[in-house]
Amino acid sequence: MSIILGIDVGATGIKGNLVDTSNGNLVGERFKLPTPDVSTPQQVTKVLKEIINYFNWKGKNVGIGFPSIISKGRILTATNIDNDWINLDGEKFFEKELKAKIKLVNDADAAGVAELYFGAAKDKKGTVILLTLGTGIGSAMFLNGKLIPNTELGHLKYKKGITENYAANSARERKKMSYKEWGKELQNVLLYIEHIFSPDLFIIGGGVSKHFNLYSKYLTATKAEIVPAKMRNDAGIIGAAMAFKLK
Ligand code: BGC
Repeated sequence: MSIILGIDVGATGIKGNLVDTSNGNLVGERFKLPTPDVSTPQQVTKVLKEIINYFNWKGKNVGIGFPSIISKGRILTATNIDNDWINLDGEKFFEKELKAKIKLVNDADAAGVAELYFGAAKDKKGTVILLTLGTGIGSAMFLNGKLIPNTELGHLKYKKGITENYAANSARERKKMSYKEWGKELQNVLLYIEHIFSPDLFIIGGGVSKHFNLYSKYLTATKAEIVPAKMRNDAGIIGAAMAFKLK
C-alpha cells in the first residue's frame, strides 16, 4: 500500500486527503481550508503547511494540483490565482517551503488522471477530453491513455472572450443562467472543441458534474459520447497523488 497526500489548490478552496495509490481510495476524511483572498505564494503556502501538519506528512510524498500551466515543475500562468506565481519553479519552491517531496501538476490534468486510473476514462482508447467546470474551465486530454498535459481548452477564444467566461460553472452563477441556457452554451463549447480534436469521449468534471442530469438533455449534438466524471469532487486530490505514478 503506498499512501500519498494529494492536495487540490482551487480558486476558492484548498483541500487535501491521503490517497491509497494502489486503488484510489481515500484514507479517512478530507481536510479543506478556504483559499486566501490574496492568493500569493506566501499566503497559499501557509495553508498548504497547515494541511501537511494536519496529516503529519512532513518529509513524505505530496502531489499538488494547481490551477496553472505547469511545465517541468514551473508555474507559467495564473488566471484564477495571484500573478506572483507566474514563472516560479513551483516544485522546488514547495519542496523547500513544505519540506516534502513534491509533484506539481495542473489541477485539471490531475482530475483527468484520477478518471484515467479509476473512473470514466479507464481503459478508454482514442481521444478522451475531460473538462472541469468550476471557477474556470480546466481540461485534460488523453490519447490512448497517455496524458497530453496543459491543454487549456478553457482558454480557447470564444465570442468576446474565452470559453471559460461563458461555460464555466461560475459563468452560470454569475449570469444567473438556467441549466437550459447554460447547457446550450456548454454544448456550443463542446461542438467547438469537437471540431478541432474529434474526441471519442467527453467527460464533464468539477462540482457541477453531480447535477449532470439537469443539463445532459441539452448536450445531444456532439458525435462524441458525453459522460459525467465518476470521481466527482475528490478527483483533483486523487489525481494529484497519482501524478507520482505518471511516466
Ligand atoms: C486555468 C487552468 C485550470 C483551470 C481550472 C483555468 O483558468 O487556466 O490552468 O486548469 O482554470 O482551474
